[in-house]
Amino acid sequence: MKVEARIRRYNPEGDKKGYWQNYTIDNADPTDSVLDILHRIKWELDGTLALRRSCAHGVCGSDAMRINGANSLACKTLMARLGSGGSIKMQVEPILGLPVIKDLIVDMEPFFEHYKSVLPFFINDTPVPADGRERLQSQADRERFDDSTKCILCAACTTSCPSFWANGRYVGPAAVVQAHRFIFDSRDEAAEARLDVVGDTFGVWRCRTIFNCTNACPRDIEVTKAIAEVKMALTSGTI
Ligand code: SF4
Ligand code: F3S
Ligand code: FES
Repeated sequence: MKVEARIRRYNPEGDKKGYWQNYTIDNADPTDSVLDILHRIKWELDGTLALRRSCAHGVCGSDAMRINGANSLACKTLMARLGSGGSIKMQVEPILGLPVIKDLIVDMEPFFEHYKSVLPFFINDTPVPADGRERLQSQADRERFDDSTKCILCAACTTSCPSFWANGRYVGPAAVVQAHRFIFDSRDEAAEARLDVVGDTFGVWRCRTIFNCTNACPRDIEVTKAIAEVKMALTSGTI
């Protein structure tokens, strides 16, 4: 099959405005991913195309892009999902709401600042039990945050959220998912500190339950549900 690719380009050393560039790839396969096609464009047609990727298997989270108008990982999006027949149209742009560095590469620092703000690490200053065993947890307690452990920090959720586009100070759904991961962990002792962050002016109340985040998540995390659980913890005062 033929792939007609339309790619958003931006060169910081050239003219400051972005532009669209078209490429055609012949002999593509329905099982080729968007990343495979971008690699062919870069390696066979135009070495100046800049993109970020690493694992190519949906694990590292580095290649979130806006593909045919919706955020997803380039390595997990197959041509068969974009269409069928002899010719496929593939439009690729950088994720929205973060500064573009070059072509499809955005500056992830503002995203990681929000991530860091929710204290995304285990906090427990109580000494481990004297018998030296691990801090035990019931299966039911572990299941409370099972979904939010799956996050790979790809930013597909946050950069598909209209509230984040409107104001980049909104901590964003990915940071709330990370806060959720520890707030509902029965072994952690810093839930209050995290609730202070996500309950603040630029926290969860900026969420208008639009669901773009849930639809964009390549790990199928129920992002909006996690946000709702954090809102509930804030209003009820219980976890
Ligand atoms: Fe990516 Fe999903 Fe994590 Fe958001 S919640 S950063 S979409 S893996
Ligand atoms: Fe945004 Fe998701 Fe809420 S798209 S408004 S964070 S439900
Ligand atoms: Fe690692 Fe796509 S390249 S998730």
